[in-house]
Amino acid sequence: MDLKQYVTIVPDWPKPGIKFKDITTLMDNGEAYKYATDQIVEYAREKEIDLVVGPEARGFIIGCPVAYSLGVGFAPVRKEGKLPRETVKVSYGLEYGKDVLTIHRDAIKPGQRVLITDDLLATGGTIEATIKLVEELGGIVAGIAFLIELSYLEGRSKIGKYDILTLMEY
Ligand code: PRP
Ligand code: MG
Repeated sequence: MDLKQYVTIVPDWPKPGIKFKDITTLMDNGEAYKYATDQIVEYAREKEIDLVVGPEARGFIIGCPVAYSLGVGFAPVRKEGKLPRETVKVSYGLEYGKDVLTIHRDAIKPGQRVLITDDLLATGGTIEATIKLVEELGGIVAGIAFLIELSYLEGRSKIGKYDILTLMEY
């Protein structure tokens, strides 16, 4: 299946000059969503994953059906102030300014093999921050899966030492 057929390119959104990759038209197509999910599940089976971790919000859309299919848990990475119990946190750079991502301190047991999921690898800042949280808790990043990689932004250079799956490249 050619998944790119299901991604809608939105010109000049959210800013002039940006060609936004809208994945909602992939998600609301049952066949395409299942196909994309199954590709990631197949990749994850080889990695003997104990837990899936994804950053809000779109990392949940990718990671939760994968976790369900694997029969493992899903731990959310959230913006600061959203998780109710003790967390670890990391600040990361955005195009303008900084933000903070957090995870519950007890979400990962040391030595657990973790699959990280997100919809998009752009500059790599979000995923780099997510990796830091997983490793701070003693998790092993066994794989990282994205629907889309924007290769011209070279996010992969930040996470080159990890095993990465991307289903589409622009
Ligand atoms: C988008 C996307 C990735 C991230 C990629 O998330 O879902 O998580 O940007 O960019 P990066 O590689 O440059 O970090 P966004 O922060 O827009 O939030 P959302 O998932 O809640 O929509
Ligand atoms: Mg995101």
